[in-house]
Amino acid sequence: MDFNLTEEHLLIQQAAREFAENEAAPSAVDRDINAEFPHDLVKKMGELGFMGMMVSPEYDGAGLDTVSYVLAMIEISKVDASLGVIMSVNNSLVCYGLEEWGSDYQKEKYLKPLARGDKLGAFALSEPEAGSDATHQHTSAVKKGDRWIINGVKNWITNGINADYYLVFAQTDREKRHKGITCFIVEKGTPGFTHGKKEDKLGIRSSDTCSLLFENCEVPEENILWEVGKGFNVAMNTLNGGRIGIAAQACGIAKASFSAAVKYSKTRKAFGTEIANLQAIQFKLAEMSVNLEAAKLLTLKAAFLKDKHIDYIEAAATAKLYSSKVAVENSLEAIQIHGGYGYVREYLVERYLRDAKITEIYEGTSEIQRIVIAREILKHFE
Ligand code: CAA
Repeated sequence: MDFNLTEEHLLIQQAAREFAENEAAPSAVDRDINAEFPHDLVKKMGELGFMGMMVSPEYDGAGLDTVSYVLAMIEISKVDASLGVIMSVNNSLVCYGLEEWGSDYQKEKYLKPLARGDKLGAFALSEPEAGSDATHQHTSAVKKGDRWIINGVKNWITNGINADYYLVFAQTDREKRHKGITCFIVEKGTPGFTHGKKEDKLGIRSSDTCSLLFENCEVPEENILWEVGKGFNVAMNTLNGGRIGIAAQACGIAKASFSAAVKYSKTRKAFGTEIANLQAIQFKLAEMSVNLEAAKLLTLKAAFLKDKHIDYIEAAATAKLYSSKVAVENSLEAIQIHGGYGYVREYLVERYLRDAKITEIYEGTSEIQRIVIAREILKHFE
């Protein structure tokens, strides 16, 4: 066991930190208030290799490991969790699936521009009546000659407005339940494919989220990812890796909350001293630090297992469950330490709480993570 990061990991961490602090931080507050999508920053992340971090150089990716991805996600989410989720969806939900199961044609046409960051991806599994219960897809796709006709509605789609390519899950054989779900690559602008209004969200406000509408949307046969009926396998296996990305995003928010709390407590005076000298505050800081450290270790462990091709389903769900809880708890404590100042926009910590909450909801709620963890424990228990 070795807890040291390699030279390469440290360089990537440093590059992500510099990008986040120098380029993303100055506009983060305004983008949150105005719910403004960070087009220029996403482009810059592409140039820096952050949009296709784990994709092989053969497909124009950075060819890095999952540990590097986690380190970069933490640094970027520490400054702006909206950028974190935009990056995470492109990397672990879209590029991963295309590299793992895509045909040569799909890799050339879709994966390469996504990995370079020239195009943006979205992952469309959730529906108005199928969020946690993802096997019950209402969206359908029916074969007509060498094309498929998609009808239905998707909900809560990150990058929904700004994406160029979408992985869309649809029922192609209702009798077979989840074994009758297929994944299609749909391009923006395909006739019959439109999006709903931008959701007005509590947090991660500068990322865009919307519904997607499919009305007799025709997609060619060659845009099926992997095979007919393999869509649910694509979704579940992709989400296992995606959960590591969201765990890292949560660690970034938890770290930002912790740092803000330490900084404030060393300058704010009460009872004749800096509040950092008060045991009530020290206990809070110690708790925040321990929880953050544990969250980071769980997340890096899940990344490490994935890189070593060791089963990481339980580790990813554990990392996401725990890190998202720590993100919420640390941001709440940071507000508490700031007192009234923590409750106003002028200080950053109220945003951390708003951003943290979603990490307990998307890419599988905390309740779903518990189901996944329990099933894995029972499966492997001897
Ligand atoms: N990894 C791999 N396979 C898995 C899996 C996992 N973590 N979880 C379930 N499966 C497989 C099962 O093995 C089973 O396959 P077989 O039939 O071949 O054995 C199949 O999936 C169906 O599983 P179950 O029979 O257990 O079905 P279920 O309905 O009882 O449970 C579920 C399924 C685990 C609850 C699943 O629906 C689930 O994960 N739901 C949460 C969905 C989710 O995470 N959505 C996030 C949306 S995307 C998003 O948020 C992105 C964004 O924009 C930020």
